[in-house]
Order: sequence, then C-alpha cells, then structure tokens
Amino acid sequence: MTWWRDAVVYQIYPRSFCDTNADGVGDLNGVRRRLGYLEWLGVDAIWLSPIFPSPMRDFGYDVADYEDVDPTFGSLEDFDLLVREAHGRGIKLLLDWVPNHTSSEHPWFIDSRSSRRSRHRDWFIWREAKSDGGLPNNWIHAWSEEPAWTWDELTGQYYLHMFLADQPDLNWSNSEVRDAMSETLRFWLDRGVDGFRMDVVHGLGKNVDQDDPEELRMLSHTPLNDAAVTHDYLREIRGVLDEYEGDRVSIGEVYLLDPAQVAKYYGHGDELHLSFNFTSLFTPWCASAWLKTIRDTESALGAVSAWPTWVLSNHDNARVATRLGGQERVRAAMTLLLTLRGTAFLYAGEELGLEDAVVSPERMVDPGGRDGCRAPLPWSASHDHGWPAGARLPFAAEASRMSVESQVDSPGSVLHFTRQLLALRRSSKALRGGTIENLHADAQVLVFERRCDDECVRVMVNFDATRTPVEATGSSLLFSSVEQPAPGELAPNEAAIFRIV
Ligand code: GLC
Ligand code: CA
Repeated sequence: MTWWRDAVVYQIYPRSFCDTNADGVGDLNGVRRRLGYLEWLGVDAIWLSPIFPSPMRDFGYDVADYEDVDPTFGSLEDFDLLVREAHGRGIKLLLDWVPNHTSSEHPWFIDSRSSRRSRHRDWFIWREAKSDGGLPNNWIHAWSEEPAWTWDELTGQYYLHMFLADQPDLNWSNSEVRDAMSETLRFWLDRGVDGFRMDVVHGLGKNVDQDDPEELRMLSHTPLNDAAVTHDYLREIRGVLDEYEGDRVSIGEVYLLDPAQVAKYYGHGDELHLSFNFTSLFTPWCASAWLKTIRDTESALGAVSAWPTWVLSNHDNARVATRLGGQERVRAAMTLLLTLRGTAFLYAGEELGLEDAVVSPERMVDPGGRDGCRAPLPWSASHDHGWPAGARLPFAAEASRMSVESQVDSPGSVLHFTRQLLALRRSSKALRGGTIENLHADAQVLVFERRCDDECVRVMVNFDATRTPVEATGSSLLFSSVEQPAPGELAPNEAAIFRIV
C-alpha cells in the first residue's frame, strides 16, 4: 500500500505559520520548530505553499527561481535540515510546484520579453493584436473581468497570463519548457522531497486560438482549462516522478468543479496520483447535498479506480468555522473529512477550529482578497500569540482562547478532538483504506460505512440543529463529536462513529 492513500496531509502556508527570526513572516525554521507539534497531532505529511524566490505579488505563486528558497523563508540549508528532521519524525514533505506560470521577474521571462528573437521568446505565450487592434482572444484572468492579455510595448505583442500580469503563462507546447520544468522537479526530488502539490495543473494545455464561449466566461476558463493535450504533459510529469524510488506523489490542483472532469486527470494510472476535488468546498451543510457530493465523487473516481481526496479549506478559501458557522459544525465536518474514503487534506489552523480573520481594507495585501483565511497561527495565549515582531495580517477572532497553547491545556478543545480523531483513523484499517458502503441520507442524517476485512465502522452525521433518534442495535459507539453523546440519538450537528459488532 502506498503511503499517500492512507495519509492525512497538513497544508502549511509558510508566511503565516511560525516566525523564528522576528521579521513578522513565518519561515522554514519555524516549520522545523513545530515538527514536534505536528508529530503530536498525528499528521502523515506536510505540504508547504511555495517557498521559492519570488517578488511576492501572489505571495510565492509567482516564482522567480524554481531551484532556490526565498530569503524570507530561509536557505537551501534550512530546507535540507527541515527535510531531514521531518523524515526523522516519520513526516513526509511535499512542495508546491507552480508550472502554469512564472513571475515576470523570472530570468526566462525577462529574456523572453527582451526581443522577438530572444532565446526564451517562445517559452511564454505571445500573440499579435488582431487586425482591428483587438485582443488575441476574449479570455479574462482569474480574479477579475480584466483581459488575460497584457500588451508589451517593447516587442509590440500581447502575452498571456491567467492570473496577474506579473504571472506570465509558460508555453507548455514547447518541449524545451517541459524539459526545463522536469529539471526543476528533479532538483527537489534529489533533495528528498516526497512529492508535489501542483498548482492549476489542469490549465497547462491551452487552445489559445479559441474564444471562451460567452456563457462560460465567468467560470475561470473551465472549457479551456480542460484541453486534451494537458494529459500528454501530465504523463511526462509522471514519468519524472517514476524515475525515483519511494512513492513520490503528485497531487493536482484541478480546479474543475465536476468530479467526472477531475477523474480524467488520474489518466489510466499514468497521470496524477491524486487530484483535489473541490466540490466539498462548495457543498452546503445539508445531508442531501453531502450525499450527492460523495456519490458523484465515488462514482466518477470509482469508474477509473482512482483514489479520492477530501478537503474542507485552504489558503484560497474560507475556513470551515467561517463558512459553516459554529464549533459544533467544525467538529462534525472534521469527522467527515477524516472518515470519508480517501486522502485527507487538513489546512493549518483547522485543527484549532479557527475562523477567518476580519481584515480591514487597509491591511489587505492579497490581490485575490484571500487574506482572511491566511491569518497567522496563534501559538500562545499571550498578547503576541508567539509572533514577537507581530504579524503582517491580523489574527483570527479570540486568538488567545483559540491558540495552540490554550487548547493543548484544555482536554475538551477542538485540537484534542482532532488529535483523537486522527489517532482513531490511524488505528483503523477500515477508516484508512476500507470500502465505503451503505451510503444514504434522509432529510437530516447522512450515513455511510467503511469496511476492511472483518472491521466495519458506521459514520452518522446529523446536519440539523435538532436532535434525532437513531437505530444503534448491533453497534457500539467509538467516537462522537459532542462531549456527552446520548444513547440512541444524535445531538444537533453531531457526528458519531460506531463499530458494527
Ligand atoms: C492556485 C493557488 C493560488 C494562486 C493561483 C495562481 O489557485 O492555490 O493561491 O494564487 O493558483 O498561482
Ligand atoms: Ca521570519
């Protein structure tokens, strides 16, 4: 069994995690300092959002050098130490690879824009204006209705950027680009990383000569993002990972909100090992909605024998407490995340039940407006919350009470709850790798069972704010999201796990 199927991957947004040199920004030594905490919590792997040199217009998702560490985060030596210590504690380490675009300050782009005949001209996507002077096509970039094209005076052409103008898209149809990007993977694989989360990887292939259908224009390029040629590129990328021993894993950020489309990115076991399935981020707190999300996912992925993934939030999307409202739901949602069939992704801070911070317009720094879910982790109950130089973003509400320090000392906290759930998952073959069966729901309660050999557990989630009786004959309660579960019923928003005897 490959390690990543069973795994719980903990996502770290390094800027907001832990600062060790008092400059107000988290760093690699900060991650290393907290490895003991992560081991205690019981996660299997960490994924670091980008740590590469970057002008930080998109906070690291604009890479100026794929083969180094930004001085804000530390050095390659710090990185090597981090890998070694993480591995020493049995924690795998994944990096965030950003293949769709570079920073406009990457030497490849600087050369590319310098002349139409430059060595790297065709490494990016340049087009003439239309004969009427218009844009090459009608694409808009991801966060606004602005065109995805920027005019470059010097050479008199447009270049494409699906995100900011500071993030020019690489031309993946050029084999030199693919080879160079493969080298960047090898650079980190040689340093011992266990795999990569791959940023907007479904967007690599592009039919630039096609307009977006008018009715789909607001859907972030969905039809274009699903170009057939991307699958050839993914097979090449997979080939690079396969050169290495030790189950190095590729996890694609495939931002297509239909599990059937997502399933295609696993190929025939020769493309991505795993893909994000973001439907769960947009599923309302409602039994029938979750039933549909799980069913659609299981049937789409099951059809191609692909292993599912589950996620509740990340650095781009609201935290669970903010999105769903209330700590009861946070615990129930965490139970779902860690008991559904698939690899689970836990965003740093979710184990504390943090809310998004309220960020006033003057303190907003992200061009995509995602500052709230990127608030710093409160480590201590003291006024600086373990950030001696302060932090660049405000803390989430009740940072003292929600801090790691306060919650470690409080056995009934969300943190202890999450830790117990992680331990239960680890100890149960059925929860880690078993089948999912008897999935059904009524208006209020969602039910499914996980089975492996002779072990079977039943998960029941009450999505309603009223209590409800449940049939529990032939089962014993293993775990509940509420402090004092009552036999034969589920409390409001209770998630319970039973062993079937
Ligand atoms: C992905 C990242 C997001 C970033 C964008 C551009 O969606 O998750 O944070 O801004 O790609 O790289
Ligand atoms: Ca720092």
